[in-house]
Amino acid sequence: MQVIIAKDADEVGEIAAGIIATRIERGELEVLGVATGSSPLPVYRALARRQPTGLGDLAAFALDEYVGLPYEHPESYHSVVEQEVTRPLGLRPDRVHVPDGMADDLDDACRRYEAAIADAGGVDLQILGVGANGHIGFNEPTSSFASRTRVKTLAQATRDDNARFFDRIDDVPIHCITQGLGTIMSARSVLLVAHGEAKAAPVAAVVEGPVTSMCPGSILQMHADATIVVDEAAASSLTLTDYYRFVYDNRPASQR
Ligand code: F6R
Repeated sequence: MQVIIAKDADEVGEIAAGIIATRIERGELEVLGVATGSSPLPVYRALARRQPTGLGDLAAFALDEYVGLPYEHPESYHSVVEQEVTRPLGLRPDRVHVPDGMADDLDDACRRYEAAIADAGGVDLQILGVGANGHIGFNEPTSSFASRTRVKTLAQATRDDNARFFDRIDDVPIHCITQGLGTIMSARSVLLVAHGEAKAAPVAAVVEGPVTSMCPGSILQMHADATIVVDEAAASSLTLTDYYRFVYDNRPASQR
């Protein structure tokens, strides 16, 4: 796993957007996996400013969606992705996919989502955030490393965290559809971003902890092309920061 330490959230966004833009311009990135939540917002903003050639031709797949939240609800990931990703990046709405949390048959919606990713040729680069409990997507602790897109029950800690987006905690849905850990690991590359003190513990567990389903994000240690971009605060519990900085400062020309 490559660890890049930025000075603040804006620089996290700039560095991550630079990685994405380079891959788009090299023709290596046609299908982008997108996360919602606060972590990737600086990335989307920086990418919208850069407007790399080919950006508008991307297909995109969201990681997850709440079950039972109408598409037009401002906190549904259908709405959030349209607001934060599709419009600012100038993507074609028909090429942007979000799991269908309003489907009558949710299991079928999950199967169709996996099929749509496969039909698009798979995800080239998956953007990720990490939850306080180490979740990626909504794969809560003890999620199977082999899991594919499926219905999950949110951990109470996740509902509490996400209550900030809703009027009342009771308004936070209990269920979601999320890409599985196996689905995320099938992406050709993964790019996890995190900023702020609250991410220090999960970032340390993801990067330096044991690989365990108790910290689902730790499976990224098994990914052949995983990059994590964090600010100083989110890096503050890592033990090998000098090494990560040394590696980044001396990265080979091919990785610049
Ligand atoms: C969002 C998602 C989640 C978030 C995580 C961190 O699509 O899948 O894993 O990335 O909960 O959320 P923020 O970035 O809001 O702290």
